[in-house]
Amino acid sequence: MALHNTEQEWGSLAKGLHWIVAILLIGLVPSGIYMDRLDTSIPAEREIFLQLVFWHKSCGMLVLLLMLVRLCWRWMSSTVPALPEESKTWERHMAHSIHGLLYIIVIAQVLSGWLMSSAGGHPVTLFGWFEFPPLVDKNKEIGEAGRAAHAIMGKPLLILIFVLHVVGALKHHYVNKNNVLKRMMPW
Ligand code: HEM
Repeated sequence: MALHNTEQEWGSLAKGLHWIVAILLIGLVPSGIYMDRLDTSIPAEREIFLQLVFWHKSCGMLVLLLMLVRLCWRWMSSTVPALPEESKTWERHMAHSIHGLLYIIVIAQVLSGWLMSSAGGHPVTLFGWFEFPPLVDKNKEIGEAGRAAHAIMGKPLLILIFVLHVVGALKHHYVNKNNVLKRMMPW
């Protein structure tokens, strides 16, 4: 499998980044929702929260780094597989809008998490290997705004856009019977 994209298929780097980010997102949303439900005044639940939040934050920051690599790779790639010729104009607009929104919401989601942690005075590391600089000084109001944004984007918005993206891919495969899903598959 070629590293670079061709007119027919995504290259191995684009595919690898797509599926690693997808798997990370599938883990991040439920882990975030579960963490939010833990009662941190109970020592046992607090211990679980601290363990989970370490992995959640690190995987979230990894998503940001991988998204940046994806964007750079996309801009550097001269070839990107096009949608099938028979795709209607509204389908093309919808696919582009959903992809654009996914990028924006995922990046905004990471930034709101980073902001919430920075404003709360909590460190943000990549699996403890190194620490990211805080985005702001400790500040209760900013922390709460970041937390509210993280909850709104992370649940209804991200889940809705993610579901639309998956439904679109399945429609290409089962209804239109074209190769749009197959050409992103790792095999
Ligand atoms: C794309 C990446 C991310 C996704 C999809 C995601 C998703 C979520 C979701 C759905 C929640 C539950 C929110 C709620 O129920 O109120 C949550 C909570 C949380 N997230 Fe993220 N998150 C991401 C990245 C990050 C990052 C990068 C950080 C920090 C650096 C972070 C820190 C937190 C914290 C501290 C909580 C718990 C908030 C609380 O105690 O209420 N997240 N996340």
